[in-house]
Amino acid sequence: MKNINVAIDGPAGAGKSTVARRAASILGYIYVDTGALYRAAALFITERDIPGSDVENALNEADISLRFIDGVQRVFLGERDVSELIRTPEISMAASKYSAMPPVREKLFGLQKQIAAENNVIMDGRDIGTVVLPDAQVKVFLTASPEERARRRYKELSEKPECPAYEEILADIIQRDDQDMNRETAPLKMAEDAVLLDSSELDLDETVEELVRIIKAGTDRSAE
Ligand code: CDP
Repeated sequence: MKNINVAIDGPAGAGKSTVARRAASILGYIYVDTGALYRAAALFITERDIPGSDVENALNEADISLRFIDGVQRVFLGERDVSELIRTPEISMAASKYSAMPPVREKLFGLQKQIAAENNVIMDGRDIGTVVLPDAQVKVFLTASPEERARRRYKELSEKPECPAYEEILADIIQRDDQDMNRETAPLKMAEDAVLLDSSELDLDETVEELVRIIKAGTDRSAE
């Protein structure tokens, strides 16, 4: 039987990872955060200080993989677990920059396809419904206003010692939206057959509930 593939795309800070992770645990699917792969590629490139023209070559040596430990995704560079190291603002910006490069996307494409072919997944990213899993049974575009997304990220980061100012977070989000939507390769855009879920006015529980409802409706329909 074909595995169930749910594609969730949307801009930075829309809450995709939290919402998708919760929905996956309710439905018993694996949650795949593809952003972690782009972040790991960005870490590999920045740690080695690789100039843009050498990225394609250098990436041949990058051994990026995802492992699922008790259903929880960890990202590895070789045998090194880099799941925490990739969560800095510098790597966020670098991931957005390098993910615009076709060799970076090509490198990670097959890995994403393979995981989706072998498992029931909720996969989140920017081009999952449009490029990686165009045949996904359910596609959702999860978004919220830039101000609401910045507010949420600020709340999340305010518990950490070096929290940037709200204005700085908002500026970062707007810059990343611009980079992600206006790049030539696999730009962030809603697939024609995706369901739009705007969470600006919804809290976390309500968003998860709505997502689970959309997925159940979509998988019931595709099983008919
Ligand atoms: O969690 P957050 O929304 O901050 O970002 P992320 O999902 O971890 O993705 C980091 C960056 O990787 C994004 O700004 C995108 O440019 C890029 N990305 C991508 O191009 N394609 C994907 N499928 C996932 C992420």
